[in-house]
Amino acid sequence: MTVRTPSTPGSAVRTPLTLADVEVGAGLRAALAMAPSDVVDAVTGSGLKGRGGAGFPTGLKWALAAGAPAPDGRRYVVCNADEGEPGTFKDRVLLAELADLVLEGMTIAGHAIGAAEGILYLRGEYVYLREHLLTRLAARRTDGLLGADALGPGAPFDIRLHLGSGAYVCGEETALLESLEGRRGEPRNRPPFPVISGLHGAPTVVNNVETFAWVTAILARGPEWFAAIGTDRSTGPKLLSVSGDVERPGVYEFPLGVPIGEVLAAAGGLDARAVIVGGAAGRCVPATEFGRAISYEDVATGGAVIVLGPDRDLLEAAENIMSFFADESCGQCTPCRVGNVKILEGIAMLRAGTCTAEHLADLERLGATMQVASKCGLGQSSPNVFLSILEHFGDELVLTGTAPTVRTVPAATPRAV
Ligand code: NAI
Ligand code: SF4
Repeated sequence: MTVRTPSTPGSAVRTPLTLADVEVGAGLRAALAMAPSDVVDAVTGSGLKGRGGAGFPTGLKWALAAGAPAPDGRRYVVCNADEGEPGTFKDRVLLAELADLVLEGMTIAGHAIGAAEGILYLRGEYVYLREHLLTRLAARRTDGLLGADALGPGAPFDIRLHLGSGAYVCGEETALLESLEGRRGEPRNRPPFPVISGLHGAPTVVNNVETFAWVTAILARGPEWFAAIGTDRSTGPKLLSVSGDVERPGVYEFPLGVPIGEVLAAAGGLDARAVIVGGAAGRCVPATEFGRAISYEDVATGGAVIVLGPDRDLLEAAENIMSFFADESCGQCTPCRVGNVKILEGIAMLRAGTCTAEHLADLERLGATMQVASKCGLGQSSPNVFLSILEHFGDELVLTGTAPTVRTVPAATPRAV
């Protein structure tokens, strides 16, 4: 198994996408007929939360950016299209198939917070989308939807494309901003959050690709329509990237609150022993908990659902994930720089049957320390999969004998996720 997300086209859309039925242009027309603060209120009223994974309320983020002092009058809208989370590929499908909804959502944000400039930060490996996106941007300029009068006479808004260079950490919003400013992509201390001091120190809204697309739908159809889908605290539909040991991997849409088992049934993976919800930074959920809901109040995800079949070696998956994080850590802070390597070594010992109970307890303490002491989301979340495997499958570990893994299993056929 490899956890690296394929960065080439071809992920099938497996369920009808609500977004595909949203009329391009309707959301922006509706927004421009409203005062900026009413647009913020509409987004707030929809209950939309950030689709990148963390689930911060989008309307509140916009209200904070609109209200923050902007000494030279500048504010920015940034679309985080640095979709690097292993097992996540729904944003590239949106950009390939419904890019106008994303660009329109950014323009609506520009009107709402008083920004004249938007930047779409595209994952370097998605370079094949560059020409397509430049074509869509040019077409929108020709149609007057971007440019000098995009937000009304004398009210400009334009979007430029910025290509990343392949560092996972640049998906962390402040590392992304550093990268945009031409520096090495290393996370900043927060606070201040980008809504107060973001790109070039100006108030900046950074939202995920999917978040902007839903903004367009919300303005086109009304916040009540969106709020009626999902649960009270997790409104709206969510795109899920389903991969791993399933018959039908691809991009699925479900209302938030959907039980994990329902997703597996649709994708043909009900015999799974576990799923990793949230990608490499997510958590391992065992089959006994497939009734749990994908939602911000239960099991949250930016979109990744990685399915581990009955023969899958969980420690092999954990080792693969920790090797990814050991590679991608920017090295700024010690818990993450050292912790990922130490846990990776510990997993190798577990697999070799040479890990003692005392050492395993040290690894658990190290993981818990990383979660609270690392500077950014990368180090805070990198031990999650390993720790959740210990939590749910720890009683299967062989600590001092020679048996190699969580469970003695037949060799699985390698499958990319
Ligand atoms: P976070 O919870 O710290 O912040 C989420 C958003 O809310 C950010 O935009 C932040 O600026 C804003 N925010 C939080 N508190 C705020 C406050 N008091 N005032 C103003 N704004 C505030 O989460 P973080 O570290 O930004 O992202 C971690 C998440 O990203 C995880 O859930 C992880 O699963 C996900 N992720 C997604 C990836 C993808 O490819 N979609 C890749 C890697 C991680
Ligand atoms: Fe860098 Fe990791 Fe620290 Fe984040 S947690 S700043 S990626 S070393």
